[in-house]
Amino acid sequence: MAHLNGRHIVITGAAGGIGEATARLLYAHGAHLVLTDRELDGVQALANSLGERAAAMAVDVSSQADNQAMIEAAEARFGPIHGLFLNAGTEGRIGPLEATDDAVWDQVFAVNVHGVRYGIQAALPSLRRGGGGSILITASVAGVRGSPGLSPYVASKHAVMGLMRTAAAELGPEGIRVNTINPGPVDNRMMRSIEDQIQPGQGDAVKEGFLGRIPLGRYVTNEEVAATASFLLSDSASGITGASYMIDAGMTAQ
Ligand SMILES: NC(=O)c1ccc[n+]([C@@H]2O[C@H](COP(=O)([O-])OP(=O)(O)OC[C@H]3O[C@@H](n4cnc5c(N)ncnc54)[C@H](O)[C@@H]3O)[C@@H](O)[C@H]2O)c1
Repeated sequence: MAHLNGRHIVITGAAGGIGEATARLLYAHGAHLVLTDRELDGVQALANSLGERAAAMAVDVSSQADNQAMIEAAEARFGPIHGLFLNAGTEGRIGPLEATDDAVWDQVFAVNVHGVRYGIQAALPSLRRGGGGSILITASVAGVRGSPGLSPYVASKHAVMGLMRTAAAELGPEGIRVNTINPGPVDNRMMRSIEDQIQPGQGDAVKEGFLGRIPLGRYVTNEEVAATASFLLSDSASGITGASYMIDAGMTAQ
């Protein structure tokens, strides 16, 4: 179980479904964790429930200064970082492309794209001091497929696929690996929001529509996503960079 002993990993969006499940698994594997999210309360409660190898901090990933402060505080607490899980994300407001205005595009890109870019840029000096490491970005099936009504979200997740590949190519020579996990619909808050926005009050019908396109016939769980995240953040994945892992119950196989 203890294959992350002595590893120091920073997580964004750690109060959300995937972030919390991953934090719990990484902690069980022995990692030191700095858990961050927009509001302190959720991550502080999570850190308290884990123990002394976990710390919490409020970080708005769309702020370059917050990303800088996150890495500085993490390094001051547990030393140079070995892993960075850039997981914070927003679905934004859902609607037809034609009617989606700048405010929605800007907000989704600020979090899902610039938030990831700022995180990588801020973390590199610390990762180098730690002797290399693993950067993992939460993309989505929306990073490889279109989805009606979700144009800013889909474009943002395609954007981080390109960012991941370029960063992997640039940073490989320094022993820094960069990968994405690409979940399909996950049984958590974000999917409830997407279902309800697509057809207000008819979320269950929207879910049935999604399930019809998923070979395993179900959404994946936060814990299933966390299992792959934990693998890619660990040295068990030492030969893997520039890769994207679909955790989508087969959704993109057809
Ligand atoms: N839920 C799904 O079906 C699904 C599918 C594919 C990909 N994803 C991706 O998984 C990641 C995690 O989402 P989740 O499913 O756990 O949903 P979630 O909504 O439970 O978690 C997202 C977290 O990101 C945080 N966040 C949002 N904006 C932020 C900001 N500006 N600064 C800091 N934190 C911010 C939220 O507070 C929240 O805790 C996201 O990147 C999401 O796009 C989710």
